[in-house]
Amino acid sequence: MLGLKLPTDPRWVNIVEKNVEFILTDHAYCEQKATSTAISLIVSFPEYTELVQEMVALVKEEISHFKMVHDKILENGWVLGRDRKDEYVLKLITFFPKGGSRTTQLVHRLLYAALIEARSCERFRLLSEELEDKELAEFYRKLMVSEANHYTMFLGFARQYGDKDEVNEKWQNLLDFEAKIMADLGKSETIHG
Ligand SMILES: [Fe+2]
Ligand SMILES: [Fe+2]
Repeated sequence: MLGLKLPTDPRWVNIVEKNVEFILTDHAYCEQKATSTAISLIVSFPEYTELVQEMVALVKEEISHFKMVHDKILENGWVLGRDRKDEYVLKLITFFPKGGSRTTQLVHRLLYAALIEARSCERFRLLSEELEDKELAEFYRKLMVSEANHYTMFLGFARQYGDKDEVNEKWQNLLDFEAKIMADLGKSETIHG
């Protein structure tokens, strides 16, 4: 599933369980960043009509996820904390060289988005299967289904707008790079940490 080359160590869930407030705060900002990415793709690539239409729908969906997580934080009597750097994403987006044609830049951004969705989906699946708190596990199961659709949508657009063979090769190389980043992660209570 998802093509990821290195599965998350299930012990990561034990770390998360000890600090649910922290993971929910981090998660809320993942949803905010997903929303911001969709808006940014509209602004950067307005002539890709089909993409724009899908990104409008995605903005609505991701901001509704943000609200779900925010409501969960409030339900627990907490207040949303400040955002932190997502080291995983910052490392990931160094993979493709900067520049190139507009199409190349679009393909790279779509592939990064697809991979972040895929890894988030994998992490949500693990939470849905392993969390002791069954209510929270169910919450993550629902989100996992949406993120899986986002992963296939982004990858589909990359293949549609770029050269298919070239995109497939870039995707495989990005997956290899991501597995190397992941080898050092899985040790903190963040969605990608
Ligand atoms: Fe989401
Ligand atoms: Fe998503």
